[in-house]
Amino acid sequence: MTVFKDQTAPVLTIDGPSGSGKGTVSTMLARELGWHFLDSGALYRLTALCALNHGIDLDQDADVAVLAEHLDIRFDVDNGSVFLEGDDVTRELRTEKTGEAASRVAAYPAVRQALLARQRAFRVEPGLVADGRDMGTVVFPDATLKVFLTASSEERARRRYEQLKGSGVATSYDEVLSEVMARDERDSSRAASPLVPAEDARILDSTHLTVEEVLETIRADLGKLSLR
Ligand code: DC
Repeated sequence: MTVFKDQTAPVLTIDGPSGSGKGTVSTMLARELGWHFLDSGALYRLTALCALNHGIDLDQDADVAVLAEHLDIRFDVDNGSVFLEGDDVTRELRTEKTGEAASRVAAYPAVRQALLARQRAFRVEPGLVADGRDMGTVVFPDATLKVFLTASSEERARRRYEQLKGSGVATSYDEVLSEVMARDERDSSRAASPLVPAEDARILDSTHLTVEEVLETIRADLGKLSLR
């Protein structure tokens, strides 16, 4: 694999649990800064989907890691589509089934290692906004600015519930809340790259903030670094 050695481009890392709003905030910031965007969760989802498509046992970490190393993927930045082995998998990537499988494969150190160089290759001029769980702690420890975006589990469950209801999925708030709490527990208690803020991250609690307020705070931090 070609590894770009452009380790001088600025990087803004946005880590945090699902439902914290980091996906929305990172895509908006990447767009307004004109920087590249890394959705690292999509790489774990693509690995999981590829394993499911090829009938690879998700319990076999070494086999899954080989797949991760050789993933044939393409991101269409203009319309947000994602291709796996030439097929458009944009919708499939977001299903609960893929998310569940992604969470399992993301716990394997060999899989995380296999995806490391691919993630670092996104760091090219004029800059990168990297969205994930371990962007500031493991993948880009020397990032220019690190944000850890969080929100209470109740608020994140409420956001997820509204989103599912809006797309016609039959579920209850209590069910979504228990899923959110179970996922949090798994992501933060795993041995490999657990979900923890980097020591030098700015911790932003979005429970009572609008997206615009979160954006304003990060813009102000970027301004102090003369990055906008
Ligand atoms: O953010 P997401 O829901 O698309 O992430 C899918 C899974 O991948 C989720 O279980 C967390 C995991 N993940 C990770 O372990 N490290 C990252 N940098 C990004 C996602």
